[in-house]
Amino acid sequence: MKPSLKKNYTAYINGGFVPSQGAVFAATNPATGEHLAHIARCNAADVDTAVQAAQRALPGWKATSYEERAALLNRLADALEKELPRLALIDALDVGRRIAETRLDHQKAIAQYRYFAGAILTHEDYGRPIPDGYLMVKREPMGVVGQIIPWNVPALMVALKVAPALAAGNTLVLKPDENASLSTLEFAEIAGGIFPPGVLNVVPGFGEEVGAALTAHPKVAKLAFTGSPEVGRIIAHAGAERLVPVSLELGGKSPNIVFPDADDLDAVVDNALFAALYCNGQSCLAGTRLFVHDDIYASFVDKLASAASRLKVGNPLDESAHLSCLVSAKQGKRVLEYIGIGKAEGAKVLFGGERESVAGCEAGYFIQPTLLEVRHGMRVEQEEIFGPVLSILRWSDYEQMLKEANGVPYGLAAGLYTADLENAMRTADALEAGSVWINQYFNLSSGVPFGGVKESGIGMEHGRETLNIYSRVKSVTVRNRVIEPWYLG
Ligand code: NAI
Ligand code: MG
Repeated sequence: MKPSLKKNYTAYINGGFVPSQGAVFAATNPATGEHLAHIARCNAADVDTAVQAAQRALPGWKATSYEERAALLNRLADALEKELPRLALIDALDVGRRIAETRLDHQKAIAQYRYFAGAILTHEDYGRPIPDGYLMVKREPMGVVGQIIPWNVPALMVALKVAPALAAGNTLVLKPDENASLSTLEFAEIAGGIFPPGVLNVVPGFGEEVGAALTAHPKVAKLAFTGSPEVGRIIAHAGAERLVPVSLELGGKSPNIVFPDADDLDAVVDNALFAALYCNGQSCLAGTRLFVHDDIYASFVDKLASAASRLKVGNPLDESAHLSCLVSAKQGKRVLEYIGIGKAEGAKVLFGGERESVAGCEAGYFIQPTLLEVRHGMRVEQEEIFGPVLSILRWSDYEQMLKEANGVPYGLAAGLYTADLENAMRTADALEAGSVWINQYFNLSSGVPFGGVKESGIGMEHGRETLNIYSRVKSVTVRNRVIEPWYLG
């Protein structure tokens, strides 16, 4: 199965792919090693062209009515829906994730465009009368925004950045990840047929080159980034240098807590595996630290291992697979290295831990669902692995468990399972996380904000608050006549 792809992709600037004679890099299928396309390796000059196009488009786009923006975002959603099967296939081939998941990515992405089409209509300013006049508090777009995204969930990463930024009246330059640019470049062409030229520009290439140039560009008025904490800090420094606001989503090491009174422990087992293994564990929101109460520990862990043994690791195009291939050999090796670190630290492998070979996909890093019994403080329990690895901790003392659940530098999400509502709410309050899910894991319904506390980042996405990180406040005071100076009321 092969989708129609161009042989060569270049930057999408000012409503079209721009000719490029420069260096290229290859998009490859990580499962098979097959070449998919060549992509222009953009540089600072391309970034400058893109930013200039976005600057020229800004006054016109800023002047559009909310209704017009909403209509175009809805048209984009409709167009993406038509292309969904092809785009989902491109992502499955480009990043190795199973196709059922990449389809869901695109559905969730489409929901974001529709959500912000609606949300912008209610994004109202406020004001009040003052003596002899009126005070207006207005929101205006930031300007040209620079956005940098990772490879794990390409369609949703694009939507989380593009939908609120355009709804709020900004123009943008987006840099996709070098491991996952194809569906974003196809997206650019689809969106380019809907939005005015220059409103949305995409510059593919490497982080240290095009990414760094985008963060350093003096005309970029706001930066938004999703990826590793290391690069997040670099982006934050770049923002500090030019005094532009930065929003960051930098991953997590999220706790998922099982209380002994949880009803239907079989369903909790399924939730716990799903939380850790969705996206082959390459998800910032993954519930990678499972806290299981002592009273039920032995039977729960048995159930987990036997449920894990029933999961199928398979070809990304296999509809019956539960897990597939990691995005690259680099990421695959990193995950295997972490499993080795865990063993050396004394973690006990309860299931998995090995690379598997999948027929026809011998190049790929397919890693078994891996259950590690760990102690708090081990590196595998503290650091983001970004692979199908679940660390399991046994707990009995509530306060100690909370301390350990919060005892990581991250604070993106948390899950918990209990039949006791008061316990659930008290624990949700005590968890240092941007999102808490009770008796489920993940909630990506439209409008549910997520974002991190501590080193997981700054700023919320996926909810109406996001319109505020893509706009700034201006207060305008009007008097009906020139008033006396020195009047400060
Ligand atoms: P990364 O942070 O290097 O890459 C993310 C994006 O940043 C890419 O578009 C990359 O080109 C860009 N980038 C890299 N260096 C840059 C620079 N100096 N200036 C501007 N942009 C730059 O992440 P990587 O190496 O792909 O993954 C490493 C680890 O990071 C993963 O194992 C995972 O733990 C974490 N990660 C977290 C994600 C999240 O959703 N929060 C997503 C991807 C990775
Ligand atoms: Mg790729």
